[in-house]
Amino acid sequence: MLDADLILEHASELATPVGPAPRTGRAFGELNRISDAAVGIAGDKLVFVGPSQDLGSKIRLKSGGRRMDVSGMTLLPGFVDPHTHLPFAGYRASEFRMRLAGKTYEEIARSGGGILSTVEAVRAADLPELGRAAWARLDRMLEWGTTTCEAKSGYGLSLESELKQLEVIRELSDSHPVEIVPTFLGAHAVPKERRTQRGDYIREVVEEMIPRVAQEHLAEFCDVFCESVAFTVAEAEKILEAGKRHGLRPRLHADQISSGGGAELAARLGAASADHLEFISGAGIEAMARAGVTAILVPGAGFFLRSERRPPARRLVEAGVPVALATDLNPGTCPTEAMPPILVLACLNLGMSIEEAITAATLNAAHSLGRAEVIGSLEAGKQADIQVLDIPEASHLVYHFGVNHVARVIKKGVVVHERARPEAMWPKGSRGES
Ligand code: NIG
Ligand code: FE
Repeated sequence: MLDADLILEHASELATPVGPAPRTGRAFGELNRISDAAVGIAGDKLVFVGPSQDLGSKIRLKSGGRRMDVSGMTLLPGFVDPHTHLPFAGYRASEFRMRLAGKTYEEIARSGGGILSTVEAVRAADLPELGRAAWARLDRMLEWGTTTCEAKSGYGLSLESELKQLEVIRELSDSHPVEIVPTFLGAHAVPKERRTQRGDYIREVVEEMIPRVAQEHLAEFCDVFCESVAFTVAEAEKILEAGKRHGLRPRLHADQISSGGGAELAARLGAASADHLEFISGAGIEAMARAGVTAILVPGAGFFLRSERRPPARRLVEAGVPVALATDLNPGTCPTEAMPPILVLACLNLGMSIEEAITAATLNAAHSLGRAEVIGSLEAGKQADIQVLDIPEASHLVYHFGVNHVARVIKKGVVVHERARPEAMWPKGSRGES
């Protein structure tokens, strides 16, 4: 018998990937689905996951513990969002209007919009201002079922402002229930004032920013926007190698707008992930499969930019590349905190199955952040990060689209978000209940 502090029972369905991560090929689309399911939680860990009828013989509720009847609901692992630009200031709705009127992302960037306009806003914001805005975003993530996210700097583009963004991330991870994995993205763009000295800026990233970020333990990963409009493969390699020397694992924005060998570079470096990949080459797919680099697809950004080019999700899966999904939350190309619409786009536009989309947004995403041993699936021994959805089975998450089905979110064994339920007004067992 194991003791539990919290029991959830009689879920109409529990759906989770299981087993070693990443899930690839056929295993990518296989979920463990249990009907009339229960979970037992002790402290911050799951101690039981299985049919409700097996719970009683294995789990005892501690005195003072809580038992929840979640009949009619579906349990899923909390989403892991492995690519966000969380700490930003200001929105860019005017650019959205320009795009609706026919301008492209590149045209807008050249006319003073794009990444560099957010850089101005971030430089002008003080730390509390950035912190408050990011806090509100984390609240929205939690309300949509996300319990862990990655968060990038990259809108500072100077030592001081990059550190400010990373410090905001650190303060948020100490205080907000959403767990945050920090990434240094000093090479997101060449800042305006260094446009004629790009070599100098890269030297500053390599010789000053990376050592300082590492020394202050402000990031786990180093990312580069490897693209014709940003940094070349050779520049990205130099920066990511420097990151590696300082203990920062590489990840990349690769092959988003053009095919430039970003995926091949990710494979060469043994990067944790290559993200976007709309223009990945056949050789890039093969190289990523061989090196086991996770492909993080961000269909929200393609959708929002009205891009006709989609990442070849099916070819990636068939080649055995681990695939994950992310929002790419940022003010320019995907201003949303919500993972469910990303799963909808992955199914309808990228040809993924519902089961694959769920695995991509949980266990494979956790793998890309080096945390698959702890989070990303509902299995005994793992951290109790659970979303309780007001749907009869997992497929409704994608099928019944455009609405928020989250009733409760549990992070590290604690109920951190709870939507008001009708039972509060009309308790079960009251007159009139059928
Ligand atoms: O992931 N591709 C580069 N970075 C972001 C866009 C950032 C921005 O437009 O502010 C992205 O899409
Ligand atoms: Fe991004």
